[in-house]
Amino acid sequence: MSLAVQIRQHGGPEVLELADLPVGEPGPGQVRIRHHAIGLNFIDVYHRTGLYPLSMPATIGMEGAGVVEAVGEGVTHLRVGDRAAYAANPPGSYCEARVMPAMGVCKLPDAISFETGAAMMLKGLTAQYLLKKTRPVEGLERGDFVLFHAAAGGVGLIACQWAKALGLQLIGTAGSDAKCQLALDNGAAYAINYASEDFAARVKEITGGKGVKVVYDSVGKDTWDKSLDCLRPFGLMASFGNASGPVPPFAPGSLGAKGSLYVTRQTLFTHISTREATQAMADDLFAVVASGQVKIHIDQRYALADVQQAHRDLEARKTTGSTILTLP
Ligand SMILES: NC(=O)c1ccc[n+]([C@@H]2O[C@H](COP(=O)([O-])OP(=O)(O)OC[C@H]3O[C@@H](n4cnc5c(N)ncnc54)[C@H](OP(=O)(O)O)[C@@H]3O)[C@@H](O)[C@H]2O)c1
Repeated sequence: MSLAVQIRQHGGPEVLELADLPVGEPGPGQVRIRHHAIGLNFIDVYHRTGLYPLSMPATIGMEGAGVVEAVGEGVTHLRVGDRAAYAANPPGSYCEARVMPAMGVCKLPDAISFETGAAMMLKGLTAQYLLKKTRPVEGLERGDFVLFHAAAGGVGLIACQWAKALGLQLIGTAGSDAKCQLALDNGAAYAINYASEDFAARVKEITGGKGVKVVYDSVGKDTWDKSLDCLRPFGLMASFGNASGPVPPFAPGSLGAKGSLYVTRQTLFTHISTREATQAMADDLFAVVASGQVKIHIDQRYALADVQQAHRDLEARKTTGSTILTLP
């Protein structure tokens, strides 16, 4: 049995309940992992509210780190006793132990702690595919400007540092002056408080009227329109989240009028759909973290039993960097 968080209906943080659930043995292609730390992500909120619906009852959580306890038939990249971490489907990482597909689980290098592993896999692999694989048709070169919303958040603080390591000038947005300072301290070239400033006007000013080659937008509804105004001709609008609500339908014709823009809606799970791709991206992430170029900021820790409060704080924009759930 394992202490786990489950929901029996979609709703507010109050639907998150602790339960004792059976764990079982791994079948072919699966492993059983005992968590040492669990990562909290905004997608967990979408699963809880039903923006991304789950069938009930459901367990949630997409990220964790721990020790492999049992290995099913056909699994060759993991052994019993390995330290491991993952960002993977299906939801269900908010627990002490679980059985899950081995495909998304990666061996964790000795230099990276369980807590850091749990805090960085989903957010770090996301920053990886955004900055390395979600690029404008004209490419990205050192010195280019990119706009990254919610730059002081979990994905955001990793992206600030990684963009700097790649030589990009990341313009970060955040909802307070303190968060803007945090983005700057972590490598953002510029930071804009979008609660008090017109971010499109500031982006034009910073870029000498030209605009940026790409906008990475996880805020969604509230930032969509103005983000399009931040782009250079042929620029890329890379939408990857809905923290403020989903982006409403829009007229493709507006993309022409604003300079033959490109739009994409990306999700990590397309990028990590094979073992090889997952491992290659994880190796890239492990290397940039081990080198010290990207530091993982665990700014909040909550006991698993306090998961409701963790969700409240994430949704209320009270958190910065990564948040983990700890186990007794
Ligand atoms: N598609 C993918 O592959 C993928 C993968 C990972 C994450 N994501 C998305 O990336 C975003 C960041 O994820 P994360 O887990 O690292 O979360 P996070 O950035 O730590 O938290 C979300 C942040 O969004 C900002 N925000 C703006 N408007 C908001 C609103 N109305 N309500 C709540 N927050 C709002 C807040 O920062 P400010 O106060 O500074 O505005 C908040 O701190 C999320 O939208 C998530 O869904 C997408």
